[in-house]
Amino acid sequence: MGSMLAEREIVQRFLDTKLQVHPDVVSYIRKRGDPALIDRIIAQTPSDAVVVSMQHIPGLKRERDGIRFSVDAELEVIAGAAGAAGGIAGYGDAVHYFRDRYSRLSSLIRSRMTAMPIEALIRSPHRYRDQECGIIGMVADLRTTAKGHRLVEVEDPTGTIQVLFNKGRDDSFPEAERILPDEVIGVKGRLSNDGGLFFAEQLVRPDIPVNHAPFRSDRPGTAVLISDIHVGSGTFLADAWNRFADWLQDADAQYLLIAGDLVDGIGIYPGQEHELTIRNIYEQYDLCAEMLRDLPSRIRIVVAPGNHDAVRLAEPQPALPPEFTGKFPSSCTMVENPCLLNLQGIRVLMYHGRSFDDMIGLIPGACYERPGEIMEEMLRRRLLAAPYGMRTPIAAAKTDRLVIDPLPEILHTGHVHICGVTKYRGVLAVNTGTWQSQTAFQKQMNIHPTPARAIVVDLQTLQPEVMDFS
Ligand SMILES: [Fe+2]
Repeated sequence: MGSMLAEREIVQRFLDTKLQVHPDVVSYIRKRGDPALIDRIIAQTPSDAVVVSMQHIPGLKRERDGIRFSVDAELEVIAGAAGAAGGIAGYGDAVHYFRDRYSRLSSLIRSRMTAMPIEALIRSPHRYRDQECGIIGMVADLRTTAKGHRLVEVEDPTGTIQVLFNKGRDDSFPEAERILPDEVIGVKGRLSNDGGLFFAEQLVRPDIPVNHAPFRSDRPGTAVLISDIHVGSGTFLADAWNRFADWLQDADAQYLLIAGDLVDGIGIYPGQEHELTIRNIYEQYDLCAEMLRDLPSRIRIVVAPGNHDAVRLAEPQPALPPEFTGKFPSSCTMVENPCLLNLQGIRVLMYHGRSFDDMIGLIPGACYERPGEIMEEMLRRRLLAAPYGMRTPIAAAKTDRLVIDPLPEILHTGHVHICGVTKYRGVLAVNTGTWQSQTAFQKQMNIHPTPARAIVVDLQTLQPEVMDFS
């Protein structure tokens, strides 16, 4: 056994090359007692790295209870890397924002139907009134008529038209009842004689193609999906979290994804102070940091914010700033909400899920108990959040980051505190539960959370497994 290197000496060697070093790496080097290892690690560390972590140790494989851990996790943030979200835009940008949403979603619909500009249709009604036509537009307004039909105002860059979905049509009416404000739809139908109304026959959405085949990783990999930890709340389930942390020690997992609400926050709802055990936001994040530091450093942790976190509410929400995450381990990557990740070829779209609140109120039959169904509705519309100006605050930027394009292999959400797993046309949709028990507010709303669940996904098969730590 080589002579024990002093901790200070190791840290200094890294500092000499302007690198900070994770304590796990220091203790690893000390145990190995090989000073030459420091130079090999420095040589292998990418030039943009600030902190050297376990993943930078060349060829490290850890053996524990016969399970072989691979440390070469492969993580890329495709969209929503820290710093990508712009400021809150003014009116001018809202126009750009909706143009971007329209152009991207309409091109998806256009691959499934032919459509003409609304202006061309209404300018010469005599030419088109006896034939089936198609239009693609954004839903500007919608209401139910006195006779129970659905009247939808559809707008494209050239004009606006009233579209009538007849309640007697069993093929299109149930879907018409689920139309949301600001989604983009295609409609096949006929123009009325006077040209003032468009009678809908078929509704076309930018849905996932039926033959969609998701990518599967060609090498073993496991991602663990969670959300809504709510550190600082009196209802936070510390025992269940500790069981989860213990389990992770021996789990062959490379990635841990956290889809927002790390802490309970301060002043999120009236009377919250009575339910908090930590009433200081920095202390909430510090405790969270401590919990994350206890997790194996070989696991890459991706942290996105939610509506309880200390960043602006308008989506896309920026990544949590160093002001709050200074004590988080270097295995953590802070990302925005939403964000698109690439885990060894598997695309994961992470979204906290504020829009569940809007969709549950607007879609007939939708409820908090079945979040999977609402995730399917998101995928059908290719929108994480459709309505603008309701309960989901949206920062209108030049591009609409709430558009689901490209399609992910996994859609990961949280927010509703009820676990749900579904597969829709090959896309695995997972709503992870929470790590807090029923709150006074949820009791009042008759919402029964499913706490202390982690969803484990095999990246080669996309098979999910729900682990219960309650
Ligand atoms: Fe939450």
